[in-house]
Amino acid sequence: MISESFSINEKGHLTIGGADALELAAEYGTPLYVLDEEAIRRACRRYRSSLERFYGGNGRVLYASKAFCCKEIYRIVAGEGLGADVVSGGEIYTALEAGFPAGRLYFHGNNKTEDELRYAVQNGVGTIVVDNLTELRRLTGLLEETGRQQDILLRIKPGIDAHTHSFIRTGQIDSKFGFALETGEALEAVRAAAAAAPVRLKGLHCHIGSQIFDVEPFRHAAGVMADFMGEIKKETGLELETLNLGGGFGIQYVEKDDPAAYESYMEQVAAEVHSRCRRQGIPIPEVLIEPGRSIVGGAGATLYTVGALKEIPGVRTYLSVDGGMADNPRYALYGSEYEAVVCARAGEPRTETVTIAGKCCESGDLLAEGASIQACGPGDILAVLATGAYNYSMASNYNRLPRPAVVMVRGGQARLAVRRESYADLVRNDL
Ligand code: LLP
Repeated sequence: MISESFSINEKGHLTIGGADALELAAEYGTPLYVLDEEAIRRACRRYRSSLERFYGGNGRVLYASKAFCCKEIYRIVAGEGLGADVVSGGEIYTALEAGFPAGRLYFHGNNKTEDELRYAVQNGVGTIVVDNLTELRRLTGLLEETGRQQDILLRIKPGIDAHTHSFIRTGQIDSKFGFALETGEALEAVRAAAAAAPVRLKGLHCHIGSQIFDVEPFRHAAGVMADFMGEIKKETGLELETLNLGGGFGIQYVEKDDPAAYESYMEQVAAEVHSRCRRQGIPIPEVLIEPGRSIVGGAGATLYTVGALKEIPGVRTYLSVDGGMADNPRYALYGSEYEAVVCARAGEPRTETVTIAGKCCESGDLLAEGASIQACGPGDILAVLATGAYNYSMASNYNRLPRPAVVMVRGGQARLAVRRESYADLVRNDL
């Protein structure tokens, strides 16, 4: 199967983190998000140990919580010693409610509002990753008002065009995120930040995109950033301490996906950082990485109940499920591919080719096209695999569908992490 979280038990049923998918569906209902907690913890540990190995521990892994955000995930990653990338007041609030140490939060975003910045500063968010000069001025003003100081990084676009979907590509000059290197804007921002007394400029950040399979764009970006740190030293005398290289490591969704082994990514990027820093005559900075998808993506699956099957001769067969774009908008948005399995017959041959459709009033509400699955009919439980990232966090209440529950599985035992929304939840804020 596409990730170590999925297997088949002696009954021939799909298991997720060792728990029988049919039992989970029976106990918690569908649609249901299921996450394998051990796999999440293993991924956190792997990243930490490769930072140890390739940077002598002078670094930190930040979980990019936009990939999957709820209180329980903050507790899990905090327990594994990670920091977290947060991108809104809402993510900060969720982290703090979960008891996440504020000092280990890194606040990102291209348009943090004044209220969000104030909230972050007042709650001791460790680092703010400043995106633009308007934000720098806003933050400086706010700090002057409160008499506080704040660690910051500057978000730089290194001018790298990573080969991934254009909606999730962020390192190129035509991007809404960060300061451009090519135009001199980035160096100007460094000077402005260095001159702004209440901020402490710790270093730089870049993030070139998401679901990237090759090591090369990451290596390239790391080299460009290290060179820029060298240029900063020459031009301003400043020796920056921190280099945050972002996230974006690809995962396998379907058989043909072939992401680089992330150890090889870590090794090659570290080699590049070391050699460029040596050449530039600057010390090796503290290196941060921000994986999101590769921590939670392959650890999750969504369970659905199959409804109607509609065979249109010579055209296609639609298999409708009780969820869809409201719990997983990724096919509708990016044409993302997924593998699906009929949970009761997970080990049997895949004899059917279907289009998996959701229940929203929209023809584009599909989860997969040309999916090859085992024979099934109404009432069967279908699992869509590798939905741990950017599914629950991007879910909506379109058509007033309540968001599904989230279940964590550990040691084969399941527990509720997020309750299923009720109809009453849907009208909670309606007046
Ligand atoms: N750091 C920053 C600053 C980011 O913007 C992101 C993702 C990450 C880290 C984590 O990237 P990851 O390791 O998860 O690839 N909704 C899209 C993905 C958007 C990614 C946004 N930024 C999707 O469903 O594919």
